[in-house]
Amino acid sequence: MSVAILVLGATGRVGSLVVRELAAAGSSVGGLVRDPARAAALWPAGVHAVAGDLADAASVRRAMHGVQAVLISSPVHPQLAPWQCQAMHAAADAGVRRIVKLSGSAWTMRPGDCTTIGAAHAAAEAELQALVAAGRCQGVCIRPNAFLQGMLGRVVAEAQAGGRFALALGDARVAFADVRDIAAACAQALRATAPPAGIEVTGPAAVGGADIAVLLQRLLSRPVAYRPIEVAEAIDRARATGLSAFTLRHQQEVLLRLRAGAGEPVSAEFQAAVGRTPRTVDAYLAEACAARA
Ligand SMILES: NC(=O)c1ccc[n+]([C@@H]2O[C@H](COP(=O)([O-])OP(=O)(O)OC[C@H]3O[C@@H](n4cnc5c(N)ncnc54)[C@H](OP(=O)(O)O)[C@@H]3O)[C@@H](O)[C@H]2O)c1
Repeated sequence: MSVAILVLGATGRVGSLVVRELAAAGSSVGGLVRDPARAAALWPAGVHAVAGDLADAASVRRAMHGVQAVLISSPVHPQLAPWQCQAMHAAADAGVRRIVKLSGSAWTMRPGDCTTIGAAHAAAEAELQALVAAGRCQGVCIRPNAFLQGMLGRVVAEAQAGGRFALALGDARVAFADVRDIAAACAQALRATAPPAGIEVTGPAAVGGADIAVLLQRLLSRPVAYRPIEVAEAIDRARATGLSAFTLRHQQEVLLRLRAGAGEPVSAEFQAAVGRTPRTVDAYLAEACAARA
């Protein structure tokens, strides 16, 4: 059975929320997944699991049959660019009219200062732009800033346990993007009549470690200190969780740039495209504290 909107990376942090949002809006939606039984348990009723693997080109081509719009989302992986380019060509060949790509943070794709994954996203964006220029599809690139739930997901637990939390940001601030806003931008780009060619998603303001300590102190009604750590210590902590060497290098490249202020600029593109202000770090931390109370 074919679906109108197909989501790749549909069990991931962003993709799983996109699927939910589209299903709630009544769209015919499916997710391309490697393990359909596991995926179906993650989604609301009515979402179709379409078996496929980005490493299996034939399965991706089959999945595009009858689809009108597709979200291309794939993990931080050495094959990101070839997998995404192949999926975009499969979509265009199948007559998919709109291709939305979950891309990298804009500052990771700056010519001359790309991160490894930023360069892969830039290559995939160029491929999408070539398909659009050839009149083969419409294209939208969603460029999120550092994920709020990624870097700040553990600070509440750390602050509750020991009255302090560690980040490798130095004095820099970051306009973190809430994954729910990133998903909303993707869903909007998949469904809107005439979406813009690119939507940069950031939070409404940039915050740093010291700001977060003040927020947590108020929310937890106890002293909370920010412990600035070196990037090397952050990478050692990440290594201890079993991440691959490729992912650790990616995290190091990202942290070095965030520390230098690359993630501070605030974009108005989310509000222009989605029609509401993006979520704040304050609201996210308040929710996280309430959930742990
Ligand atoms: N984290 C950040 O701060 C940040 C900032 C900007 C941009 N980004 C970009 O966001 C993307 C990651 O998004 P995310 O965090 O939502 O993803 P995620 O949680 O890492 O999930 C990855 C998804 O890809 C699927 N997948 C993995 N290998 C696959 C394969 N061979 N074939 C088909 N599906 C496969 C996974 O499915 P399974 O269930 O099968 O494993 C999962 O659904 C990356 O491209 C990254 O560069 C991240």
